[in-house]
Amino acid sequence: MTQESCDLMHLKYPAKAHAKKTYEFLKASKSKTNVGIFLSGESLELHPYSDQTKVFRQNRYFYYLSGCEIPGCHILYEAGIEKLTLFLPNVDKEDIMWSGPPILRKEAMERFDVDSVEYAVRIDEVLADLSKKQIPVLTLNLNKWSTPYAKRLIESESDVMYALDESRLIKDSFEISLMKKAASITDKCHLAVMSATPIESNETHIHAEFMYHALRQGSKYQLYDPICCAGPNCSTLHYVKNDDEIGQDKKSVLIDAGAEWKCYASDVTRCFPINGDWTKEHLQIYNIVLKMQQVTMEMIKPGALWDDIHLTAHRVLIKEFIRLGIFKNVNEEAIFESDITTRFFPHGLGHLLGLDTHDVGGRPNYDDTNQKLRYLRLRRELRKGMVITNEPGVYFSPFLLHDVLNDAKKMEFINETVLNMYWYVGGVRIEDDLLVTDDGYENFTKITSDPQKISQIIKDSYEGGVDRFHNLI
Ligand code: GLY
Ligand code: MN
Ligand code: MN
Repeated sequence: MTQESCDLMHLKYPAKAHAKKTYEFLKASKSKTNVGIFLSGESLELHPYSDQTKVFRQNRYFYYLSGCEIPGCHILYEAGIEKLTLFLPNVDKEDIMWSGPPILRKEAMERFDVDSVEYAVRIDEVLADLSKKQIPVLTLNLNKWSTPYAKRLIESESDVMYALDESRLIKDSFEISLMKKAASITDKCHLAVMSATPIESNETHIHAEFMYHALRQGSKYQLYDPICCAGPNCSTLHYVKNDDEIGQDKKSVLIDAGAEWKCYASDVTRCFPINGDWTKEHLQIYNIVLKMQQVTMEMIKPGALWDDIHLTAHRVLIKEFIRLGIFKNVNEEAIFESDITTRFFPHGLGHLLGLDTHDVGGRPNYDDTNQKLRYLRLRRELRKGMVITNEPGVYFSPFLLHDVLNDAKKMEFINETVLNMYWYVGGVRIEDDLLVTDDGYENFTKITSDPQKISQIIKDSYEGGVDRFHNLI
């Protein structure tokens, strides 16, 4: 365990500072003073016609204001008196023999950064008291508490959500430490995946290796399902079948997977040849994606517009495709304007990362008529304290290229004979997690993306045996 994560163990998640910060945004945008903010967490839910619970995932807005992972809780922030109250679920004695004793109020006070802990049975009384004092209570529509008082809460979904999103946009030092821990777990998982290639003959094995090492390091959940694919399957951006054989025809592997730590995300993609030997075409595409990432990394600093950085990645792709001969050597500007690059690099260069994989506050515009920008999930200037991904990719997707291949006008930019040499690669993406700093960025992701070093890790695993690595974590 690092010094940083040891230090964290003695500190409480800064829920109260988050509540104050959220209220400041609310006040600035709506001049609202002396309000309450009431949010419900998620509860355990049963599968239909079953007594088994669905996988629990805490509501991220609730967690931000409470730091509490327990199902069935609620939080109230009374801004006028700066009081944060956590409501625990009422004790169900019948359940104790199945689920064990619930957390007590005293324990909850010690564990969470709140001023008061109550049971849910008191919610109506507390809300009624605020109502008597004519203090409005704002909420999100997601609230699960539906007694008469809660129903009368002012439904100001957009005001509260705006304030929460702006607050979550810039990470504080505690959140940054949690995210570094998530990233470091993920680094080891990716290294484990690369080091176990001799026993990975199916995409499922890649998935299993990642999960095994995440779980062993205490990360039970992933904020998104790992994407583990080989060969042409790598052209599906969010491929989750993860069950195909990795044979001679599918030697190029892509794994996009990130461990979660205390509800915070990491999101990392690495690609490699299953036997350690890059094929000529796979390495060519890998180096293009690496260049897209390296050039755009240099532009990351406060004040830079993410749109511009994303479009620069498209321009690198054009130059490199002309060099390979996939694009015919015509005017670069004409290729850029034609939007043909969106058929090879269809997604955004990156997104905000935090309590969610695609974190809130990015202000995307999925209706943008600009094809190159419509899937970009971050449309704002970079600011110190944002955590973002930088994840360029190049794909050879029959689905995305189908129209192009049947359109003579669009084919004026493409040399089909050269293009045909690359289908088997499927796709390459390289994804790192970065913190925007005073004058640049800090990269949380330490697992190498150098193609020679990756090749060496894999070759060493064939020589040294996989057990060598299993004992490391
Ligand atoms: N893993 C999903 C993404 O990279 O956005
Ligand atoms: Mn991502
Ligand atoms: Mn990803």
